[in-house]
Amino acid sequence: MDNTLALLSILLAVCGVVHAQTERPHILFILADDLGWSDIGYNNPYVITPTLDTLAQDGVIFNQSYALPACTPSRASLMTGYFAYRTGLQHDVLVKNRPTGLPLHFTILPQKLKEQGYSTYMVGKWHLGFCKDEYTPNGRGFDHFYGFYTAAGDYYTHTTGPKNFLDLREDFTPDRDQGGVYSSDLFSEKAANYVANHDTSKPLFMYYSLQSVHGPLQVPEKYLDKYLFVKNLGRRTKLGMITAMDDSVAVLVEAFKEHGLWNNTLLIFQSDNGGPANENNFGNNWPLRGSKKTLWEGGTRVVTFAHGPMLEKTGYVNNEMMHIVDWFPTLVNLTGGESDSDMDGLNLWDTISKGDPSPRTEFVYNIDEEDDIPRQAIRVGDYKLIHGKAGNPSHWVPPPENYCLGEAENGRIFKNYTRLFNLKDDPTERNDLSKAMPKKVEEMLARLEELKEKTYPVLHAPALNKESSPARFGGLWNLLIAILPILGVEVLYGENLLSDTCQ
Ligand SMILES: *[C@@H]1O[C@H](CO)[C@@H](O)[C@H](O)[C@H]1NC(C)=O
Ligand SMILES: *[C@@H]1O[C@H](CO)[C@@H](O)[C@H](O)[C@H]1NC(C)=O
Ligand SMILES: *[C@@H]1O[C@H](CO)[C@@H](O)[C@H](O)[C@H]1NC(C)=O
Ligand SMILES: *[C@@H]1O[C@H](CO)[C@@H](O)[C@H](O)[C@H]1NC(C)=O
Repeated sequence: MDNTLALLSILLAVCGVVHAQTERPHILFILADDLGWSDIGYNNPYVITPTLDTLAQDGVIFNQSYALPACTPSRASLMTGYFAYRTGLQHDVLVKNRPTGLPLHFTILPQKLKEQGYSTYMVGKWHLGFCKDEYTPNGRGFDHFYGFYTAAGDYYTHTTGPKNFLDLREDFTPDRDQGGVYSSDLFSEKAANYVANHDTSKPLFMYYSLQSVHGPLQVPEKYLDKYLFVKNLGRRTKLGMITAMDDSVAVLVEAFKEHGLWNNTLLIFQSDNGGPANENNFGNNWPLRGSKKTLWEGGTRVVTFAHGPMLEKTGYVNNEMMHIVDWFPTLVNLTGGESDSDMDGLNLWDTISKGDPSPRTEFVYNIDEEDDIPRQAIRVGDYKLIHGKAGNPSHWVPPPENYCLGEAENGRIFKNYTRLFNLKDDPTERNDLSKAMPKKVEEMLARLEELKEKTYPVLHAPALNKESSPARFGGLWNLLIAILPILGVEVLYGENLLSDTCQ
């Protein structure tokens, strides 16, 4: 009798746990900007990121996770579940006076999660267009937005060139009062605020899209002081920015804990592309080849980890293949929704949560045929084919803080070339097999051609100059007509010129 009761209570307890775990999780998706492979503590012991390292080590580190080589294409893929070449945003990044955005026929991730009953918040960088309100985060499924629309700006003034106009707002209202507040502090405070005010009867989705650690190189002095052993001031500053980012994540995680959300939160952290390993930016991707904006592994294989109580297997490094397009169907499925069957992304939940073999066996690095020499690469199994221009720099750059790793080595720059690598044997792309394996090359070229049929043409909206000048919009980077009355700015021209040019 006693035994039966004990058994019953154990069963009830177990069922209780199971019930709690099947409750839909809160999702905290943290996207770092331009964080390189060797720019996090768990890949480079000189980098001070205790919060991120602990989260990663208590969760799952993904060692073969890919993204596009630049901000806009990567964000387009994350938000749609389609490879960038199927979104029109495969070519470079959106410049701020280009009147276009992520095409509106896509139902994007926050819209999908909202359908599932989620409250949706975004803090930080958007960079998917803003020339009419349908293109902005608020127009695309985020209940609340605090952050900026363009690519980059000053970390303290929140302005961006060429004449330093403001790019910072809460929903549609410009925030002119944050001069002097460093962006990673500002954003964690605003995000923590959303968490504090969240109606806990609903699941929460937060897209925390950090400005860190994109250029310009700016950081509060106290972070520079942690890296006095680094001689190179540019690299020292970049490392300080990374540690400031780590603190920003710590503040946000604390808010999730304080408000009782943490025990049911799935945290995902990843970089949008590789680090810009150049003398202006000092990102680092060692030992990978190349840099941001290249199709080399250094531009596309990115720092990624997940953490949360719903992960069944944790505390290890997962070597399964995954791509940023996969988050869309994975998260949508996890929350009870369905994704288009035509979508490039795959539901990788069993790979992520249990370490099962990945259903992904191939992916498109990018297909961009805008220039004379196309930039395209695909992965099939262990092989990678680059056809055309991989992009520069094609160097192997050791992190400046660790001279033991050697000198930077130039990769030969081929302008128009077909290269084949076996990434399993040669993850740093040193050994071109294209001559030795012509059959494989032929096979992969044929696959590339096949995939190309699904291309969505690059969006061509000519950049506006005078018409889009923030001087006409209350000193804000903003092509929105709608905001003028809010700002109390008189509309000085008669016709709705910009809405018409916004494609
Ligand atoms: C998380 O903690 C809260 C309060 O501490 C509790 O009500 C809730 O059931 C817990 N959720 C899970 C999934 O354990
Ligand atoms: C989620 O994925 C699982 C496994 O593939 C599938 O059985 C289930 O039907 C999916 N759920 C929805 C709502 O599509
Ligand atoms: C690049 O190489 C391909 C195949 O080798 C060739 O067809 C094409 O014309 C070349 N393009 C340029 C701009 O040289
Ligand atoms: C991560 O991948 C590299 C290959 O690029 C491999 O050498 C390394 O062993 C992997 N790390 C772990 C811990 O599996």
